[in-house]
Amino acid sequence: MKPPPPGNRPLKTLERVLSKAGLGSRTEARKWIGTGRVRVNGKLVQTPDHWVDLERDAVTLDDKPIRARKKIYLLLYKPTGYLTTYKDPQGRPTVYDLIRDAGEWMVPVGRLDQDTSGLLLLTNDTQFVEGVANPEHKIAKTYLVKSSTLVSDQQIDRLREGVVLADGATQPAVVRRVRDSAKYSFLEITICEGRNRQVRRMVEAIGSRVLKLVRIGIGGLRIGELPIGKHRELTAEEVQMLLGKSRLPD
Ligand code: URA
Repeated sequence: MKPPPPGNRPLKTLERVLSKAGLGSRTEARKWIGTGRVRVNGKLVQTPDHWVDLERDAVTLDDKPIRARKKIYLLLYKPTGYLTTYKDPQGRPTVYDLIRDAGEWMVPVGRLDQDTSGLLLLTNDTQFVEGVANPEHKIAKTYLVKSSTLVSDQQIDRLREGVVLADGATQPAVVRRVRDSAKYSFLEITICEGRNRQVRRMVEAIGSRVLKLVRIGIGGLRIGELPIGKHRELTAEEVQMLLGKSRLPD
């Protein structure tokens, strides 16, 4: 078999795409391909190990699109140390190592840094990704922060008002002091933007540092009792709730 083209695209062989769609076995799929019943992006393809990009290529059998896949929405409790990417050239663990049993190709809805843990959504529904991850839709993301110093009420007010970062001022945030220990403060910070390492940079802008960062909520969704490293499917109500809070343009 030809090796897949380089890059991070979600690729599967044509015979696997057909058999995974639940239409028949791999042997049957090979026959359909061999007898010229299958097209990729309108072009006749007769090699079963032709690489198909699951997100970009349209596959038809007898000119009919192969069955629309069931839409899946996963809530993963990402541990630290995992990258929100498909493949890492350095071989570090990625969130895909945690969802292998889901049996479907999915994309993350937004990202979490390698050293951030918490709630990460993954789905095969690209409209949902657009609805929830697009910062214009202003969906709230809530983080639990352990800061490297005790943080004063004045510092918290600065976070609430918005701080100036290298890429511009942040919008006002909702900030709640959860508790203080002898040396550290624990804050809950809710923002609607999603800039790179935003929470870490906000806390640095008030003269402290983030020691631990956990995303505990997206919109009305909470991580709840899910064990770290595990995932579960969202309920239909949860999907609707998230889309309601981030309405797609008509
Ligand atoms: N803010 C950060 O600093 N990191 C994340 O992963 C998410 C938000």
